[in-house]
Amino acid sequence: MIILGIETSCDETAAAVIRDDGALLSNVISSQVNLHRKYGGVVPELAGRSHVEAIGLVVLEAVQKSGYLLSQINLVAVTAGPGLIGALLVGVSFAKSLSYALKIPVVGVHHLAGHLASVAIEYPSPLFPCVALVVSGGHTQLYHLSDFGSGHLLGETLDDAAGEAFDKMARRMGYDYPGGPIMDQLAQQGNPEKFRFPSPNLPQYQFSFSGLKTAFKRILETLAIGDATLPSDERRRLHADLAAGGQRAIVESLMKKVVLAVCQEKVKGIMVVGGVAANSLLRRRVREEGERLGVATYIPSPQYCTDNAVMIAMAGLVQYNKYGSEKMAIPPVTANPNWKWV
Ligand code: KG4
Ligand code: ZN
Repeated sequence: MIILGIETSCDETAAAVIRDDGALLSNVISSQVNLHRKYGGVVPELAGRSHVEAIGLVVLEAVQKSGYLLSQINLVAVTAGPGLIGALLVGVSFAKSLSYALKIPVVGVHHLAGHLASVAIEYPSPLFPCVALVVSGGHTQLYHLSDFGSGHLLGETLDDAAGEAFDKMARRMGYDYPGGPIMDQLAQQGNPEKFRFPSPNLPQYQFSFSGLKTAFKRILETLAIGDATLPSDERRRLHADLAAGGQRAIVESLMKKVVLAVCQEKVKGIMVVGGVAANSLLRRRVREEGERLGVATYIPSPQYCTDNAVMIAMAGLVQYNKYGSEKMAIPPVTANPNWKWV
């Protein structure tokens, strides 16, 4: 069976082809990052228009690179939510048209189920149950997973997402969107001990990043780094120290809940997915804690952490297999910007 995955929920137009034995046949991503950069974040109207322009070419390229013909595709999986409505509608309409024309089924994938399935690209048989941390620009959620595609929510952020906190800290220092990778790079030359950040003390599996964001803003204001008299190498050093401190505060507040969940939920593994899972400190800390607690750790390679369509194809396959041999229960696919998963 050959599966085509399509992802257009935010600012990447992506298509990928996989085989039902898990083989990855093609993976194409057209990023809109440069389009949104000067606005400091994703502009929904621009995102929708750009997806319309890119989707046909991206899907065609993914099919061509897979070595199969469009007529040999057996299933289409598409992100149906959550996300930007104008962006989701482009992928969903395209997938449904393909399904109609090729007379093949289409399944709607939840974006977070997609991120969780990104683990399956490199780890086809992880040990379950697992604690799964989903950390992206729009989400910070901790799940208990008994299998790919089945689990329950343990807790989530009360305010900003972890990626949003990275992006906003970087923006405060004058860096472009997305700020997460820039913070990661800057932090490598910085001293995390230089500035003190508060550590949120929330019950159970709740997260909060708005206090950290405000603390970051205050420190920055006190330092008056924007002062034109400050030499640029000194400004850069302060930025590096701020990035290192801010990054450590975000990562340690995530780790606190991950460690708590591993101890309380008696799981066999930790999964970390989503754009922020590309962060080098988070990856190192998860591996260290996994080793210390004696559980397996599953973190996709950085290119599968940020939005892509391979993970959507993987999640689509898992979902399709659950519908049983008759496949009678496949629900019609509609774009739902506020879709709650579990
Ligand atoms: O999963 P994703 O590509 O899109 C959403 O579904 O949101 O995640 C994007 C987020 C952005 O906030 C970006 O700054 C963050 O992931 N990110 C990082 C790193 N790479 C991407 N954050 C910290 N360190 C990184 N290396
Ligand atoms: Zn995402």
